[in-house]
Parts: sequence; C-alpha cells; structure tokens
Amino acid sequence: MAEVHRYDYVVLGSGIAGLTFALNVAQESSVAVITKKNRAESNTNYAQGGIAAVTSAEDTFDLHVHDTLESGAGLCHENVVRGIVEEGPARIKELIELGMSFSERENGGGHELDLGKEGGHSKRRILHAKDITGREIETALLTALALHPNVEIFENHAAIDLITRRKLGFTTDNRCVGVYVLDCKTGKVETFACRHLLLATGGCGKVYLYTTNPSIATGDGVAMAYRAGAPIANMEFIQFHPTCLFHPNAQSFLISEAVRGEGGILRNGAGQPFMDGVHPLKSLAPRDIVARAIDAEIKKTGAECVYLDITHQSREFLQNRFPAIYAKCLECGIDMAIQPIPVVPSAHYQCGGVITASDGSTELPGLWAVGEVGCTGLHGANRLASNSLLEALVVAHRAAEAVKKEKSVPGLKDIPPWQSGSAQDPDELVVIYHNWREIRQLMWDYVGIVRTNKRLHRAASRLRSLSEEVRDYYWNYKLTCDLIELRNLVLVASLIVDCAVSRHESRGLHFNLDYPELNQSHPPSDTVLKPG
Ligand code: FAD
Ligand code: SIN
Repeated sequence: MAEVHRYDYVVLGSGIAGLTFALNVAQESSVAVITKKNRAESNTNYAQGGIAAVTSAEDTFDLHVHDTLESGAGLCHENVVRGIVEEGPARIKELIELGMSFSERENGGGHELDLGKEGGHSKRRILHAKDITGREIETALLTALALHPNVEIFENHAAIDLITRRKLGFTTDNRCVGVYVLDCKTGKVETFACRHLLLATGGCGKVYLYTTNPSIATGDGVAMAYRAGAPIANMEFIQFHPTCLFHPNAQSFLISEAVRGEGGILRNGAGQPFMDGVHPLKSLAPRDIVARAIDAEIKKTGAECVYLDITHQSREFLQNRFPAIYAKCLECGIDMAIQPIPVVPSAHYQCGGVITASDGSTELPGLWAVGEVGCTGLHGANRLASNSLLEALVVAHRAAEAVKKEKSVPGLKDIPPWQSGSAQDPDELVVIYHNWREIRQLMWDYVGIVRTNKRLHRAASRLRSLSEEVRDYYWNYKLTCDLIELRNLVLVASLIVDCAVSRHESRGLHFNLDYPELNQSHPPSDTVLKPG
C-alpha cells in the first residue's frame, strides 16, 4: 500500500502566500510545500508594479484605507482593510530583513525608497523593484526557505482534492486532514496527511481566453475548497487589467499600471486621450473604470487595441525604471521611448474566493486560505492596485501565528489511499483541450467586462453540459494534470457565473447592462455560495 506522507503543515502553492506561511511555521514543525510546476512559477513571480504600503511622511494609514474603500465600491470590510493596511509596514520590514531589496532614489545626498503610483492611489506608496518586483520577492522567499531543514518542496505535484473527516465517513468534528496529490511526472497519486492545510493556490485567470496570468492560475484552490464544503464569495468580481501588451509574440505580457503612474496616457488610434472625459483621475482612474472605458472605445471604433503613450519620458528613465517592459516591447519591435504601446484589457485578478477571517481561517476547521485564493473582505468589488501582495504577506503571517497556537490538534492515523478503480488511459485528449478552449472562449465572450442577463444565462447553460462531460471523463480516465485543471476550471467558471447571475446591480468590476445602476435600496452585501 502506498505510503502516507505526514507533516504538521501542508502548504499548497509556492507564491508569496504559501512561502511566507511556510517560513513562519518552519522553525519548530515539519512542512510540505506542494506546487504544480517549478517552485518559482506563480502569479507572484510575474508581479510588476509592487506592494502598496504606507512608508512615507506624506502618506497616512487613513489615506490608504480611504483609497482601498473607494476602489472597492462599497463592499470592502472596513475593519479588515484597516488591519491589513496598518500591519503592512511591519511585514514589509521583515521581507527586507530577509533579503528583499526595493528600488531607492537619491534624496539630498542620502537614499530613500522610490515609491511608485498606480490607479486609485492618492499618494505615491508602491514599493517596487524596478518592474520585476514579484521575481525579486519570490527569489528572496525561496532563498530563505532553502535554509530550513524542516521544509520539503514537492515540485510538479498537483493537488487533486482535500481530504476531510466527513469524506472519510466521520459524522462529527468535520475537519480538513490532508490532500490527495498527483505526481505529474510519475502519474501516481500520493496521500498527504497534516494537522493544518494552507491553500495558497492563487487565482483563476486561465478561466478566460485572454489573461495576464501564467498557466498555473486555474482556480484549483477555490474548486477544491468548494468541493470540500467551504463557502466562497464574490467570484463575479474578476478584475481585468487595462493594459496587457497587444502583440502576437507577447502572450499575457503585462504593461504595468506604474507606467501610467509615471505619466503614461491612454490614447485611441486617432491619438485622442479618451480617459479625459471619463474620470477626474483620467488614465489613472481605478481599474474597473479604465478597463470598461477601453472596452467601450474598442467597441465604438472597431479597433483591435488602444495605445499607452509614455513618450514624454526620456529613454534613460524608461530603461532604468521599466527595464523588463522596455526590453519586451523592443523584442516585439516597439520602441516605447518614441512609440505608443498597443494594449488591451485582460483577465488579471480574482477578487473573491474562499471566505476567510482576517487570519486566513475558513469555515472548515484545519483549512486555511491565504492570498488570491482567499476572500478576506479587503478588496470588495474591485481590488486597489498592489494591495494583493500586501494582503498575502499580512494574512500569511497571521495564519502562521494562529496555527502555532493550535498545536494540540491530533493527526488522523488511517487515511485510505486514492482509489483509481478501473480508470483507463485517456483515449481522446482532444476532448480535454477542446473543452478547455471552449470554457475560456465562452467566459471571454459572455462573462467579460460588460455582461447581460442573456449572455450570463447562455454561459450557465453551456457550462452545465460541459460540467457533465468533464465529470464523465474525470471518473473514467486516469488523471493527468490537464484533467485536474479542466475539472477545476469548469467548476470555477460556473461559480463566477452563478455569482454574477445573482447580483442584480452593477458594482465595481461587475457591470451588467440589464442592471446598470448600483442598488441603493439595500445595504451592499457579498455574494455567498455555500456548497450543497
Ligand atoms: P500565486 O503567486 O499565484 O501562487 C500560486 C501557487 O499555487 C503556485 O505555486 C502554483 O503552482 C500553485 N498551485 C496552484 N494550483 C495548484 C495545485 N492544484 N496543486 C499544487 N500547487 C498549485 N499584485 C500586486 O499586489 N502588485 C503587483 O504589482 C502585481 N502585479 C501583477 C502582475 C501580473 C502579471 C500578475 C499575473 C499579477 C499581479 N499581481 C500583483 C497579483 C499578484 O501577483 C497575485 O495576486 C499574488 O502574487 C498571488 O499570490 P499567491 O501566493 O496567492 O498565489
Ligand atoms: C501592475 O503592475 O499594473 C499590476 C499591479 C497589480 O495588479 O496590483
């Protein structure tokens, strides 16, 4: 019989949330970090703009709280916002002590942090490492973690499903006690048992045809948690980043909002700055507003893209401040010092997720969810730029402190191994790829930046039959990583649609032409879906 791997803590995901938690619990306990591809591959690794935090004398916690609430369109939980904003600077100090280095600028003979600006922020408050902030954070965390003898990292391992006492037949004290995981190299399913499990699997950008996210972002955490009985919320609020590079050789490459923070102006094909009449902050308005304005401009003019013009800045400034973006544009034949950059909106961030308290605890004991997979109430209906890395840092630290206090939780002795039954080798892989493409296309066409009831119902109906096809395939054929992801994608797509259908208003990132106004007659509320 296959061996059961036993750890105090199992962490699913090796982005900022998972690694921060692992580092904070590893001193006295055994930790397994399970990750789908190589250890650095995560949304974190691609983050450009930086981390929002109050570090300058001109800024205040109140202002950061105010900007977050404004952006969140009435749905942020103010106590959560304040707590995370106020704890940010301490967590960032720890990250710097760990080896992270943020860009600085000269100031009267000395140096100070070079703070960036992004949409919806009333002050310069984004700490960044040029335009590769995420890569530098990921490297700092992985380097620190490599020193811990108590941590084992399992690369190319994809979590399939959480193991709960209820699923094992116990009728009392339901709890998450482990996880089944596919070793993607050998095709074997392994069993991991633990006292606490941290979901840090990131978001679900890959549900959409066009996204800034890398291929790991298939919503696995939300799907696994929902199947295990944990409620989720606010999945209708998918954030579309306004400026993804529009070029055939540049799939998913982001042009950071920080470019607009340094004065970049959005223009249409005729060179007009079309954001001028839309919002007082013009090109630096909150993301939902900018993405919708671009969508409208593209539909109005029939153009394929709009343009981001930063040609007023010097070449030297651009090469120094945005080296990765500058190089990528050049690789695509665009010299951003003298040419506007062609851009389109793309799916970027999942504001909803598994419902958690502000320490990442979920309704299912033993299960914690931190980072993009979780929904603490910080982001409301539209995340303020660069608040995501901040949330992951703060909440991962809190979750680590909380689990350390729950040391007496017993592990479960007998967890049955995975049953693959009479599953056969997949005979028609085309089914998986076809369904995958269909989901992403229909989500883009029917559940995108601007929605209607008709399109949402059409999406719901098609997703119901796709779910049945995928379920059939899942139970009859041997598991592959692609099949695991497809099963999760179809569930997460359905959750997004179900949330969108039940919101009868337009708020933040959810815009429905059949309910174009905010519903003022009811206090704003989260959309909560509880597993049946
Ligand atoms: P991730 O960093 O996405 O990590 C998820 C991990 O889970 C990965 O290791 C993945 O392999 C693993 N995983 C997933 N499913 C499974 C499974 N089934 N089994 C095992 N492992 C699994 N936010 C900001 O605040 N500031 C920015 O400047 C910024 N820029 C961004 C730029 C880009 C291009 C993108 C895509 C996002 C950006 N964001 C930014 C958002 C931010 O990067 C993410 O929200 C954040 O990094 C999420 O961190 P995380 O730890 O929750 O998840
Ligand atoms: C960006 O650099 O534009 C991304 C920032 C974010 O998503 O928070």
